[in-house]
Amino acid sequence: MRVAGFSEPGGPDVLRPMEIAAPEAGPGEVRVRVRAAGVQPFDLAVREGWTPPGTPEGFPRVPGNEFAGTVDQVGDGVAGFRPGDEVMGNCRLNAYAEYVVVPAAAVTAKPASMPWEVAGAFPAAVMTPHIALEEMGVGAGDTLLVHAAAGGVGAVAVQLARIAGATVVGTASEANHAYLRSLGAVPVAYGDGLEERVRDAAPGGVDAALDGAGGDALEVSLKLVRDRNRIITLVEHARAAELGVRVTADKRSSARVAEARASTRRGGCACTCARRSPSTARRTRTARSRPATAGARSSSWCGTRAGTMWPEHLDVGAVRFARPTARFEEVLAFYRDVLGLPVLAEWRDHAGYDGAVFGLPGTPVHMEITQSGAPPRIPEPHPENQLVLYLRGAGARDAAAARLAGHGHRPVAPENPYWSEHGAVVFQDPDGWQVVLAPWVFGAEPPPGRRP
Ligand SMILES: NC(=O)c1ccc[n+]([C@@H]2O[C@H](COP(=O)([O-])OP(=O)(O)OC[C@H]3O[C@@H](n4cnc5c(N)ncnc54)[C@H](OP(=O)(O)O)[C@@H]3O)[C@@H](O)[C@H]2O)c1
Repeated sequence: MRVAGFSEPGGPDVLRPMEIAAPEAGPGEVRVRVRAAGVQPFDLAVREGWTPPGTPEGFPRVPGNEFAGTVDQVGDGVAGFRPGDEVMGNCRLNAYAEYVVVPAAAVTAKPASMPWEVAGAFPAAVMTPHIALEEMGVGAGDTLLVHAAAGGVGAVAVQLARIAGATVVGTASEANHAYLRSLGAVPVAYGDGLEERVRDAAPGGVDAALDGAGGDALEVSLKLVRDRNRIITLVEHARAAELGVRVTADKRSSARVAEARASTRRGGCACTCARRSPSTARRTRTARSRPATAGARSSSWCGTRAGTMWPEHLDVGAVRFARPTARFEEVLAFYRDVLGLPVLAEWRDHAGYDGAVFGLPGTPVHMEITQSGAPPRIPEPHPENQLVLYLRGAGARDAAAARLAGHGHRPVAPENPYWSEHGAVVFQDPDGWQVVLAPWVFGAEPPPGRRP
């Protein structure tokens, strides 16, 4: 099997594709064909030469301590898993590989709607804060300080603490403050003056601290938290005993992952993949969390982070928006020939309907037009009924607009001034419905600045 391993410790360059024998599942074990594996600071330490307790010395070594994939071998005595089951789990090493063998107790079912790269980075990043919050007894009425709150562990800690009813102050760089607010934390910048900023953010005091940064973060925690039993450092293991603070107990279990997965399903806490290797989905970055879903309605805009999954009761594969027309041939020609949308399916007089679906095979969003009845029924067109095409920049917008102009179509004034303020150009289809050519990709980037 292929692995990403190393034969000498060092930086990222020492990792190489290698061929080694695939492991076989023994009694009580499962073999998982790995689809995605998380990349954590733990793995970087391994790559740099650290040997985790209980693991063999020597080379080649294969890092990787969390993964998601499909069970492909089940050892004797294993109940509850079958080949083909989609799972996620933990090990100490060896997950950067095509196959990994672990005790069956180390894996738990992957929700069908959770993307592979999220599942691969889910177990450890979720378990660590899960254990830490339990150890510190964080609950309603507490104020928890989370250092490195926008990181893989910190962001989950924020959400779990919020679910438990705690107030959370989280440290992060300025760029991550909106993200932390969306998770329900009060953001504070790290660096000089941290102690004062935390005191300002938590005038009632800080009851517990989770240190995901070390150094100054731990020093400030020592000053702010009275009970050192309620400080956990994930970083300064060597100093913990001397300072009287705690490290996380080794209480990893698939049951914790399952519990966190259940929180995900309830919509309270979810993880998304922060970065993904362009060359392979197997190397993923640590997990992050998405904005809280609940909240009072306000005028502010709140998006969903990339990688957020559909809830389990909605295992959505594609979404199709359908609308009727009374000018089927004209409307079809407009979208197919003038605008140039690809036709995914087209039919005539099927169960009394003419129809066409626009989109690409395997893509998630489609538009359908249908015509039925004689004479065909058509709802009154309304300019707020829009097809919005989010195009990759002004050049793409101009190319699409030029194509429509070449077929004799002229832009119209949008009903909603928002579109022109943000550089979109609006046309009309033969039914009078508006087609918006927007020069940014909704959900992936913010709209361009407002024009006067
Ligand atoms: N991932 C795990 O499962 C796991 C398990 C056990 C222990 N740990 C340990 O926990 C620590 C955090 O891990 P992680 O996976 O969450 O890392 P990560 O995803 O790489 O995040 C690290 C975060 O640290 C923040 N940061 C950088 N300098 C900082 C400072 N001076 N003060 C406060 N925050 C600072 C950054 O925030 P900005 O981006 O906002 O600058 C970044 O988001 C690491 O030491 C790791 O070894 C991790």
